[in-house]
Amino acid sequence: MKVAIVGATGAVGQELISVLEKRNFPVSELRLYASIRSAGKSQKFRGKEVSIEALPETPLPVDVVLASAGGSISKQYAPIWAQQSVVVDNSSAFRYEPHVPLIIPEINPQAIQGHQNIIANPNCTTAILLMALYPLHKAFRAKRVIVSTYQSSSGAGASGMDELLHGTKQFLAGLPVEHKTFAHPLPFNVIPHIDAFQENGYTKEEMKVLWETQKIIGDPDIKLSCTAVRVPTLRVHAEAVTVEFERPVTPEVAREVLAGAPGVDLVDDPASKRYPLPLTATGKFNIEVGRIRKNLVFENGLDFFVAGDQLLKGAALNAVQIAELLLKPVAYQ
Ligand code: A2P
Repeated sequence: MKVAIVGATGAVGQELISVLEKRNFPVSELRLYASIRSAGKSQKFRGKEVSIEALPETPLPVDVVLASAGGSISKQYAPIWAQQSVVVDNSSAFRYEPHVPLIIPEINPQAIQGHQNIIANPNCTTAILLMALYPLHKAFRAKRVIVSTYQSSSGAGASGMDELLHGTKQFLAGLPVEHKTFAHPLPFNVIPHIDAFQENGYTKEEMKVLWETQKIIGDPDIKLSCTAVRVPTLRVHAEAVTVEFERPVTPEVAREVLAGAPGVDLVDDPASKRYPLPLTATGKFNIEVGRIRKNLVFENGLDFFVAGDQLLKGAALNAVQIAELLLKPVAYQ
């Protein structure tokens, strides 16, 4: 396939290049696009330099566009790219359109059928949550879900990571900590504010987790409340999850279910200090789940903790897996 990456110089774009290589995706030609600022630079792919082009305003000469340059670029250009290519869009611009499939290949690969050349990649927090929640939902049927997130700086792109590293140096040097990407200085802090506040008091990031969960698992009745918090880690989103199920559940059976779930590593041995961590989940395709225990508040309730590399399963890996579905639509079933 001829493949284009839009936003190739960004945090997700760089991972897209590496995931295409690692998964041996059949690329006959790779085109890399970014802003005019990056035009003329180059990037290695499979040992060869590929030059980075300024994004034109025309359709792109490829079969698949992997887009990760932000919502406004996608909104403006995806309909143009879709005239000639299938677009896998990493932004939230099209996720809630009824005719646009929103896909996690391990969960709803069948949703790709009937796509109209734009396919949406879910929000990173949702993807990491559902990798663990969906297998449990299939087994015990989730009714109500409460999630608190610990989201890394790279969720805000390369500039988020830079701001954390630079700000940490400033803090340690006793200097005032500058911040632009985040609403407050992130080093040695946590910020309960990701994306814009909505009328109901939740942020858009928090509402995305509800909207996308309902769409991906195909259950508009599932109830979910999320508190999304930015923490000073570089990569990986971690999430503390409480679920009330319709059917009785035990931690032992839940562990068995998760041990057999695709894309999930069960890391749940507290006695040997083994549980999901940003540092161990970094760079991994699978998400980690652990700290599985019976919840003390809800009947049929379970608590667990997940950590997943949001640049991979939460973004680049999932996007490439969607592109793989275009090649062999039943890959995950
Ligand atoms: P550039 O590096 O040239 O600014 P991140 O999410 O890590 O911040 O990355 C955003 C990506 O989107 C980068 O590759 C960035 O390119 C790209 N980008 C930003 N603005 C535009 C634009 N107007 N046209 C094309 N690509 C853009």
